[in-house]
Amino acid sequence: MNEKLVCAQCAASYPVSVVRYECDCGGLLAVEREPITAGPAIFDERRASRRGIDASGVWRFREGVLFIGNDLPVSHPEGDTRLYERFGVFFKHEGENPTGSFKDRGMTVAVTQAVRLGARAVACASTGNTSASLAAYAAQANLKSVVFIPAGKISAGKLGQTLAYGATCLEVRGDFDSAMRLVREASTSLGIYLVNSINPFRIEGQKTIVWELLQDLRWKAPDWIVIPAGNLGNTGAFGKALREAHAAGWIAKMPRLAAIQAAGANPFYQSYRQQFASRFRVAAETIATAIRIGDPVSHDRAIAAIRLTNGVVEQVTDDEILAAKREIDGAGIGCEPASATTWAGVKKLRAAGVMRENETTVCVLTGHILKDAEAAVRSASGRTIAIEPTLAAVEKALG
Ligand code: F0G
Repeated sequence: MNEKLVCAQCAASYPVSVVRYECDCGGLLAVEREPITAGPAIFDERRASRRGIDASGVWRFREGVLFIGNDLPVSHPEGDTRLYERFGVFFKHEGENPTGSFKDRGMTVAVTQAVRLGARAVACASTGNTSASLAAYAAQANLKSVVFIPAGKISAGKLGQTLAYGATCLEVRGDFDSAMRLVREASTSLGIYLVNSINPFRIEGQKTIVWELLQDLRWKAPDWIVIPAGNLGNTGAFGKALREAHAAGWIAKMPRLAAIQAAGANPFYQSYRQQFASRFRVAAETIATAIRIGDPVSHDRAIAAIRLTNGVVEQVTDDEILAAKREIDGAGIGCEPASATTWAGVKKLRAAGVMRENETTVCVLTGHILKDAEAAVRSASGRTIAIEPTLAAVEKALG
């Protein structure tokens, strides 16, 4: 299979068997391999059979994910999420993964690799979804998990989930970006395996969101793929997925990526507005706590993805996010606030004439509605009416 870790900046390479996230030159590393010869026919056959690891929407694509020989992956299994058609767009609902977010796709690969490397503990910084996913996969693999979270800034559901799966939570007095800096330092000095999206194996798993949505569309590439953009791991992963799918001939044309940021956490949008001439860092604030990130680690990878796909970056306000969430929830699908940036972004880009209604567009819903129950209640179109336990009170309330 001949997999290597290759630096995106200087092309230096390292074996996949070493613990390394960055090149000596400081560039992020990516797993690169010989051209993938497996393709749609075999992937479709595995999806229909659903036996063993073929039931995983990640490991079904294993030739392009990670060569593990006869080892068994740490899998729940994940992926195989639904595609809904509403409002003239498709929604790929990654909130239907085992822990309720797309993070499980990358985590199955990163934790499988952690076990292969002999790690005893795994760590991440998180706004809540990565930590929940990490804790679940670490529990399954009997690894200790340590998560660094910004104190008071992740939803109660995500925190509860992370703790319930058995992680040790370090509540950092600071924002996500300071937690991220700290976990990078701590994992190196304490010898703990880091599974944030700077980990190249996470990216390999997250590529399968794109591959599976192409499979859902019978390998006919859409015009647009729309994603929320926070730490930018997914944006980078989507670019790599599309590059590899196109190079392998699975799709005939390259879809365009639209990465959507919250206006209060928009460093990548600001950089895009300057043709990526400079990198921005902001003090982030948004209701979409999952993407409350001011200094995204995968900045360079994300630029490559936007350039490769002739993509765009847009920003949406918290009010636009909540309005879009109300529509997605009201359609009976539901998602957490960060995911609603996608539909809010489509509406804005259509109004600006960048996207057209006759184009095939796939919005990736990254997290489940229950991930942030407080936000769901706040933006809900349904209402609660307190009543006495009498029929008269029911009639009065509904009348
Ligand atoms: N949507 C959700 C629901 C997320 O949890 C995240 C990131 C994103 C979108 C953005 O993805 O970082 O790859 O650009 N959540 C991370 C976490 C930061 O810790 O759970 P990205």
